[in-house]
Formats: sequence, structure tokens, C-alpha cells
Amino acid sequence: MTMPMTTDAPNTVLALIDAMAEQLTQAGVGFGHGTTNAFDEAAWLVLWKLGLPLDALDAQAAAPVTPAQQAEVAALIDTRIATRKPAAYLTGEAWLQGVPFYVDERAIVPRSFIAELLADPDLGEALDSWLSEDTDRVLDLCTGNGSLAVLAAMAYPQVRVDAADLSTDALEVARINVQRHGLSDRITLVESDGLAALDGSYGLILCNPPYVNAASMAVLPAEYLAEPELALAGGEDGMDFVRQLLRDAPARMLPQAVLVLEIGNERAYFEAAFPTLEAVWLETSAGEDQVLLVTREALLAWRQETEEAV
Ligand SMILES: C[S@@+](CC[C@H](N)C(=O)[O-])C[C@H]1O[C@@H](n2cnc3c(N)ncnc32)[C@H](O)[C@@H]1O
Repeated sequence: MTMPMTTDAPNTVLALIDAMAEQLTQAGVGFGHGTTNAFDEAAWLVLWKLGLPLDALDAQAAAPVTPAQQAEVAALIDTRIATRKPAAYLTGEAWLQGVPFYVDERAIVPRSFIAELLADPDLGEALDSWLSEDTDRVLDLCTGNGSLAVLAAMAYPQVRVDAADLSTDALEVARINVQRHGLSDRITLVESDGLAALDGSYGLILCNPPYVNAASMAVLPAEYLAEPELALAGGEDGMDFVRQLLRDAPARMLPQAVLVLEIGNERAYFEAAFPTLEAVWLETSAGEDQVLLVTREALLAWRQETEEAV
């Protein structure tokens, strides 16, 4: 698999990226953990291995690479192909909205579209318009490596954030990120099964839960199998965690509070499971089908209606 070092060996950064992208394509690796195509994935790995800034490809494109560097990069690409691990697990870092996060296999690679709502001023307006001036406590439920908790603390400097997860492994990774961004005094990490161990009243609950349905879990590309199953699997229709959350959430929400929930490509399953719940779909770069908002009021109305129907 290793690239032969011939006279045609790619001896600039851009040529090396092109060659590595071709290898990734030939090997049929899967994307979706920070990149969507072979060129971007190769650029990430090549620039990282060469110690170059990840956002400066244009400036570095014509820079020379030595045969030794070419060999080191080729070995990294070989590992990516042989192990099928997402690039972030090989580099130990993932970027979300321009913010770097430590990552390892104890937590899912962060890629939540809720991050856009927190960090992109244009998209964030839609979320801000739902928040009360008095919002001073935010919950990031299912925090994983803590990225949404960190972005929320950055976006709302006046709030305190609880970051909860059932996985103590994930919470250890989250602790590294909270410390890295100097937010230990404003973010509290909590081990909790859903909302069970939480007693706060929040103005905003963020949640990117496990929501992959059983049929999708059975055919996941290998890259996803490198991630903790607990972070992905949501039961037969993907809605096991969400079903419980929607019932429990009002008790942990202030009267004007909202819940922002990511459900990936599962909108059809969500609507089939909760047909009468009034949800507002929020626009992100993934479209208007992946992240939704529900008010406490809507949750209470839905809960009452479904209980009466039983
Ligand atoms: C899709 S990942 C999201 C992680 C992170 N918020 C992100 O966006 O990158 C889902 C997370 O939910 C956690 N989780 C699964 N079941 C849970 C439960 N019953 N209670 C709390 N957290 C749970 C997993 O450990 C995982 O970290």
C-alpha cells in the first residue's frame, strides 16, 4: 500500500495531498467525521503530519516535501486505510467551528450541527431569539468530549454549564477539553443516566443524543465502529433515549426554557415516534432536518395529550 518513492514522487504539499487523496479513494474509506471527501481528509492528515497549519493550504501548497516526509505521510495514510479509524483519532484533535478539541476513542468524534447554532452569528440568531435574558444555566446532555458545553460557555459568557454523560470515559475526555479552554470554573461535569443525576433548572438544554436506529447501526461504515457504541445506538427506531428525555425534560426546565435536540438523518423516525409534538426545525449547514427545538410548554402539552390517550 505504501507509496513507491519514484522520480514521480509528489514533492510538494499539494501534490502529496492529491496522491494521498487518490489512495484514500482507491481504498474506499468512509468519511463523515469532520470531512466529506478524500481531498479534504488527505489535506487534514498531510498538513497535520507535516506540522503545518490546517487552515493554510493555499499558502503551503507549493512548499517542498522531502522523501522522508513523504514516507511519514504515506505511513499515516496506510494506518488510516488499514484501521479505518477516523482521522481525528489518529491526530488526537478535531476542530468544531474553529475551536480545537482533544479527541480519543473514549468519546465520539465531535461533529454536532448544534455547534453552528452556538458559534455562527447568523445561524445563532435563530437560537438566541428563543432564549430568555435570564438564562443563566445551560445543560449539555450527552456531552461526549465536552465540545458543545465549551462552545456554549464561550457563546454565553454569563452562563454556567452542566455537561453530563453516562460514560465516565467520555467525561474524562471532556475534562481535558474543559481545562484546555480554561472553563473549569464555569462548566461542571456530571455523570448521569439521562437527567437522573441532575437537579438544576435550566434555561437551555442542548442534546446530541445516541439516535441511530437498529437498521442503520447494522450497516455503519467501519469508521463509525471505531466510536463508542453507547454514543450512537438509539434502539430499534433510534428514539429510545429521546423518548425518555422528552418525558423527563420539563422537570429540569425553567418556564421559558427550550430544548435543542439533534437527530441526524432520523427526522422521519422522530416524527413517527412523536407525531403531535410541536417542534421547530432549526436551519444549519446540514439543512432543516437535523436539529429541532421544543419549548417546555410544547413538551408539557404533548405529554398531557399522550398520557390522556393511554
Ligand atoms: C452522539 S454522542 C454526542 C457527544 C457530543 N455531545 C457531541 O456532539 O460530539 C452521544 C453521547 O451520549 C452519551 N450517552 C449515551 N447514553 C446516555 C445516557 N443514557 N445518559 C447520558 N449520556 C448518554 C454517550 O456516552 C455519548 O457521549
